[in-house]
Amino acid sequence: MENGARFLADLTGGQKTGWFYDQRDNRAFVARLAQGRRVLDVYTYAGGFAVQAALAGAASVTAVDRSEHSLALAEGAARLNDVPLSCVRAEAFAEMARLDAAGERFGVVVVDPPAFVKSRKDLHSGAKGYRKMARLAAPLVEPGGFLLAASCSHHMPAELFAEEIAHGLAQAGRSGRVLRAAGAAPDHPLHPMLPESAYLKALVLQLD
Ligand SMILES: C[S@@+](CC[C@H](N)C(=O)[O-])C[C@H]1O[C@@H](n2cnc3c(N)ncnc32)[C@H](O)[C@@H]1O
Repeated sequence: MENGARFLADLTGGQKTGWFYDQRDNRAFVARLAQGRRVLDVYTYAGGFAVQAALAGAASVTAVDRSEHSLALAEGAARLNDVPLSCVRAEAFAEMARLDAAGERFGVVVVDPPAFVKSRKDLHSGAKGYRKMARLAAPLVEPGGFLLAASCSHHMPAELFAEEIAHGLAQAGRSGRVLRAAGAAPDHPLHPMLPESAYLKALVLQLD
């Protein structure tokens, strides 16, 4: 159970512990924005953002992941909560480009990818990945709609992440404002001497 929704966690074959607990508060925040809006949850894993948005009254929810196993968990969660969910198995960047070309627009877009910066030496290339992610996601957000962009890379500093997201939005010709800059929920406390323990960065923006 999380925020009143039921999920399936694969404790032995799933990713991390089987459930990404760290996004709990960010999922609740996004769910509050979802009512009556079309929602796109890219990198859905077990449907955490998607199912909570659907329960909160989203007009429709589409969940994208390249992993069949993840999508099976998301579909199972949708059934458990008796909400409709459209699951698409695809590479995230290609699918976002395809949706844009097809003219699809959403009131809420979530992009919560795996770590693009896996070690310090990947910082430059990984940072560019977050910029590209924002550039591809931004056109899908309708004017006045919301974008949640996240990074779980220990090696990606929060300031640089915010800069890369801002650059991506600018490249897409979009402006907006940050409504929430958050990390993990309080059950993931930070070590005061280890800035990298604040590994999760989540920005929620409203785009013009
Ligand atoms: C950090 S998890 C997402 C967690 C999820 N948003 C949640 O709230 O629990 C990253 C997900 O991205 C998927 N993934 C990784 N690379 C991908 C890609 N290139 N395209 C689409 N999905 C991808 C993985 O299968 C995994 O489910």
